[in-house]
Amino acid sequence: MPMKITFFSTQPYDRESFLKHQADSRLELIFMEEKLTEYTVSLARGSEIVCVFVNDTLNENIIRQLSQLNIQLIALRCAGFNNVDLKAAQACNIKVVRVPAYSPHAVAEHTLAMIMTLNRKTHKAYNRVREQNFSLNGLLGFDLYKKTVGVIGTGHIGEVFCRILHGLGCNILACDPIKKPTVEAMGIPYVPMSELFPQCDILSLHCPLNEETRYLINNETIAQMKAGIMLINTSRGGLIDTKAVITGLKTGKISYLGIDVYEQEADLFFQNLSEQILHDDTIARLMTFPNVLITAHQGFFTQEALSQIALTTLDNVRQFIDGEVLINAVSKDNG
Ligand code: NAI
Repeated sequence: MPMKITFFSTQPYDRESFLKHQADSRLELIFMEEKLTEYTVSLARGSEIVCVFVNDTLNENIIRQLSQLNIQLIALRCAGFNNVDLKAAQACNIKVVRVPAYSPHAVAEHTLAMIMTLNRKTHKAYNRVREQNFSLNGLLGFDLYKKTVGVIGTGHIGEVFCRILHGLGCNILACDPIKKPTVEAMGIPYVPMSELFPQCDILSLHCPLNEETRYLINNETIAQMKAGIMLINTSRGGLIDTKAVITGLKTGKISYLGIDVYEQEADLFFQNLSEQILHDDTIARLMTFPNVLITAHQGFFTQEALSQIALTTLDNVRQFIDGEVLINAVSKDNG
């Protein structure tokens, strides 16, 4: 009998990519569109493995229920694992694996796209020209060359982003408890966050969401920032206190905001809600600002990344089936 994997939160592109790369006859893939929640957890019945994504809920209650259904492995098809209660998984003897790095380039390049769009207003220019409005008024940007960019978190993505910025001739300041020689070799100094905030023209977040980093961007830290800063978050929504950022945008302290992630995105992103009434007043307010760019968690979304996500996830599962060491395991100790 093949081992079954129930996939939650799947889109057509996930199914296509996993089916293209799946060649192991010992596995049966079952694709669900539903998010993993208290209401949908029973869909995993009959499977040994669940495969989940960024907005699936894996709290203690759901993990207990998965355990009662005999789930032995949670395979995250993403890098971040802030949505998993690792303590509960360990207590239930459920292993957790992830895809630590599928394409740091995908997210780093999307971060640059957000900066470029906010700065040079190409989204507005596109619409204007289509309406035969060839005026440049209101489209004034600035050179990125020699601007100071703060990069918080120089892991896989942050480092690639530093390389891109280096190529553009920016002054880069890094902040990370782990100093990377490869980043320092580019002449990039590591500075404490308190030194970084007042110097940056642009600040980009590339650290994970955890108890230490939740609401890293709040009223106090915004107060320390240079007036007119561009703030970019392609990491996790919970890094930002959105209400504080809205205040910063209203006062003009924050001149540009680019977010690919949003704290309450689980109820919104990856769905077409265009025919529905938007009940989230916070994102509705954000959408009214002319200097705010929101994308719906698409940083990872390149052909290369999708292939790598499928290949690594399937290999994580193979290691589990073959009883090998799970090289991409996350546990409460290493998480
Ligand atoms: P990584 O684990 O390679 O790097 C994270 C870095 O952040 C590490 O160097 C770590 O030391 C550092 N860090 C931890 N706490 C910190 C703190 N308090 N201050 C400063 N630095 C801190 O992770 P990777 O692959 O670079 O991804 C970064 C984040 O990007 C992920 O955690 C995930 O949330 C997000 N992401 C977003 C995607 C998207 O589609 N928008 C796709 C993939 C990841």
